[in-house]
Amino acid sequence: MDWPCCWRGTIVALLLAASQLASATSSVNVDDLCRDMKIYVLDLQQLAKEKGHPGCNAEDQVVVKTDTGVVYTTVEDHAKDKWGDKSPDHNAHHKLGTHSAPWHFARAISNSSCAAATMEQADLIYVNDYCYYIWWLAAVHSHGAASDELLVPANALLEGWESVFALPRWKASHGRDFIFYDAHPGFWGEGGTGRRRMDYQCNEMKNAIQLIVDRPMRSPCKDFLDMSSLIITPNNPNALHLDISATFRRRWVPLQHRDNLLYFNGGCGFGANMGKRFRLQTVFTVKAAHPQLASLGCSDGHLGGVHKAFEDMLHGMEHSNFCLALPGDSQSTRRLSEMFMAGCIPVFVGPPYNSMPFAHSIDYASVGVFFNVTRTASWLEFPVKWAMNKDDRPLHPQDAHWWLPDANVSHVMIQVDEVQDIVPYLENMPEAEIERKLSLMHDYRFYMTFQDSLSGPSNANHQLLKAIRAHLPLPTAADLRHRHLASTSSHFW
Ligand SMILES: *[C@@H]1O[C@H](CO)[C@@H](O)[C@H](O)[C@H]1NC(C)=O
Ligand SMILES: *[C@@H]1O[C@H](CO)[C@@H](O)[C@H](O)[C@H]1NC(C)=O
Ligand SMILES: *[C@@H]1O[C@H](CO)[C@@H](O)[C@H](O)[C@H]1NC(C)=O
Repeated sequence: MDWPCCWRGTIVALLLAASQLASATSSVNVDDLCRDMKIYVLDLQQLAKEKGHPGCNAEDQVVVKTDTGVVYTTVEDHAKDKWGDKSPDHNAHHKLGTHSAPWHFARAISNSSCAAATMEQADLIYVNDYCYYIWWLAAVHSHGAASDELLVPANALLEGWESVFALPRWKASHGRDFIFYDAHPGFWGEGGTGRRRMDYQCNEMKNAIQLIVDRPMRSPCKDFLDMSSLIITPNNPNALHLDISATFRRRWVPLQHRDNLLYFNGGCGFGANMGKRFRLQTVFTVKAAHPQLASLGCSDGHLGGVHKAFEDMLHGMEHSNFCLALPGDSQSTRRLSEMFMAGCIPVFVGPPYNSMPFAHSIDYASVGVFFNVTRTASWLEFPVKWAMNKDDRPLHPQDAHWWLPDANVSHVMIQVDEVQDIVPYLENMPEAEIERKLSLMHDYRFYMTFQDSLSGPSNANHQLLKAIRAHLPLPTAADLRHRHLASTSSHFW
């Protein structure tokens, strides 16, 4: 393989980028970020307990692994993954850690100048339902979606929400100043409680600020025709067995030490799902056409692939210039935030395209490489729709027939006939272009990480607050009058 190699310039560029990052990020002014945006963290267990539900707290159902910052459930039974593989990186712990962003966000707010001491003093209310949420999710993963085991956390969560809907504050604003975080793409459930959850998220909560990991999560909701009101957030790339701070400080592998052009390792599946079929087709055809350039595998055993421990996968990403960002069961995947950790340039092949979290802050068109594959009809049974059709709503987000790109990338789109045609483009990308993309990724790297505080480099919590600020409900005339009176009164008395 003929690798161009002039890495020295890049090291300088990256060091420069790193020092710029340090100076730019140390100047995140949290007080500015929090000005006029005081947030009360409403612990849902208080409301749920009033209805006779069990408490749910960090000492009880959920613990944090101190060395890695990964959150998981302590209920032994829930930690088993009913889908088999018990290897340490493929169990519920790791999966649930991926969805632990809401927990970190609550902690970061509580421990910052954004925090409001009471609901009355708050501009916004963050409903911290993470503990019941993750308990329910863990129970689904351990016992299957139809089990009675789900009912305890499911009812606590749903009845807790009902208590939120009954608050005078909720009624006054129709939920506009409430924030909910739903961090798992396919967690709706088919049965009664799952359906109830979906109905609440689509209807009662339609005015609330909703943080989700991909837009198809709300595609079954008729009231979310304007998907722009949703905030798309990354998955937490924390891994159970890795020290998170060490992982993020890990130096990227210099280009000259990378021995692979293109990397992918993830589930492919043969199911009805569009994303999984796209993966299977991509792994199959690209490998067949360019066996020595691409390390592509199906972690679920298809096409001879094997499951890899997280650390091995990270190693593969770190030693590749490019990584495939391919949707799977849903539009979002865990892979994208891992690429930002590993310093592997994301290659978006579609449509449909992998979700692009924080597209308001991250210049995906410059960081990523985008391919539009023309010939998909032979293996995609239904056409991919770019426009939303109000009457064409799936019952489950994983059945979405259209997956929206989160950023307009049409100006950088590379048109190819067949999916294997992407390889020559990647092979021939000038090194300066690769360096430019890596340097940009380095700047954005921390945006994909969830820390427990707002101090330190600009991380995902800052990006969330920035996005929330942009979505802040406009004050009504009555609010302004009230504020004016309040400020006048403090002047004179
Ligand atoms: C916030 O967290 C830091 C350490 O993470 C701690 O030192 C500090 O006391 C905390 N502040 C508050 C207000 O809880
Ligand atoms: C992708 O290609 C199709 C034709 O195959 C075209 O209709 C569509 O507009 C293209 N999309 C983008 C975003 O370039
Ligand atoms: C995306 O940007 C292009 C210009 O680069 C513009 O022509 C097109 O209308 C935009 N598409 C959408 C959906 O905004």
